[in-house]
Amino acid sequence: MIVSFVNLKGGSGKTTLCVNVAGEIARVTKQRVLIFDLDPLHASKRWYEIRLRVRPPPKLEIIVSYLDVKKYLPTKNEIRSKSARYPFVLLDGAAGDTHISNAALNMSDLVVIPTMPDDLTFNGTEKTLEVIKTPPPNVTRPVPWIVVITSYDQRIGIAHDYERNKIRLAWQERVLTPVVRELAAFKEAMRRGLTVVELEPNGQAAQDIRPVTAAIVRRANASAR
Ligand SMILES: Nc1ncnc2c1ncn2[C@@H]1O[C@H](COP(=O)(O)OP(=O)(O)O)[C@@H](O)[C@H]1O
Ligand SMILES: [Mg+2]
Repeated sequence: MIVSFVNLKGGSGKTTLCVNVAGEIARVTKQRVLIFDLDPLHASKRWYEIRLRVRPPPKLEIIVSYLDVKKYLPTKNEIRSKSARYPFVLLDGAAGDTHISNAALNMSDLVVIPTMPDDLTFNGTEKTLEVIKTPPPNVTRPVPWIVVITSYDQRIGIAHDYERNKIRLAWQERVLTPVVRELAAFKEAMRRGLTVVELEPNGQAAQDIRPVTAAIVRRANASAR
């Protein structure tokens, strides 16, 4: 199963969602999860390097592999054979680069488009969907996609509610019901090479990641069939 986190907009929450969903899948399935970092800036690889230095070390249930995609873009079959031992492979996508995003899209059983409730990210999601909906000629099957609302802040009230409703109205049942709130724990966990569940197992961020991960896995299973 290959699930990618893609949005052409940088800073839309791809890496944050990707590593935390990986941690939660690993925790629930008790199997290792492989992340391929497709971003030339290598945010998830950096997170992983910090993680390997954490004492005491967290369980090695997430493996981050880095691909120098500017030099070489692996094919779907290469990714599949490299990752054959992993039931779940997550691709952390790159901003801006439709070439890399296209490659990620074509390899995926499911594409997750993290979308923050602001106008710029909404625009990024629209552009990403244009790429998804105009696949290159060698691609025969339309790739299933979903939108996850992330960095939702209740305190911002009307502004975020307005944007959240706009996202739901635009993409309807493609938008997951559970949302990821804007919480300091996401930044803190990233900084320390941890997942939010490792940082605070019963914290608000963990409470958000659990249902979102379950919904992603459900949709991925449905689309892989
Ligand atoms: N749920 C969240 N709560 C708080 N901050 C978040 C959340 N999701 C992402 N961020 C912050 O937003 C910024 C961009 O997130 P990131 O995951 O790096 O996006 P991308 O990978 O799409 O560039 C980072 O500073 C990250 O810490
Ligand atoms: Mg990133």
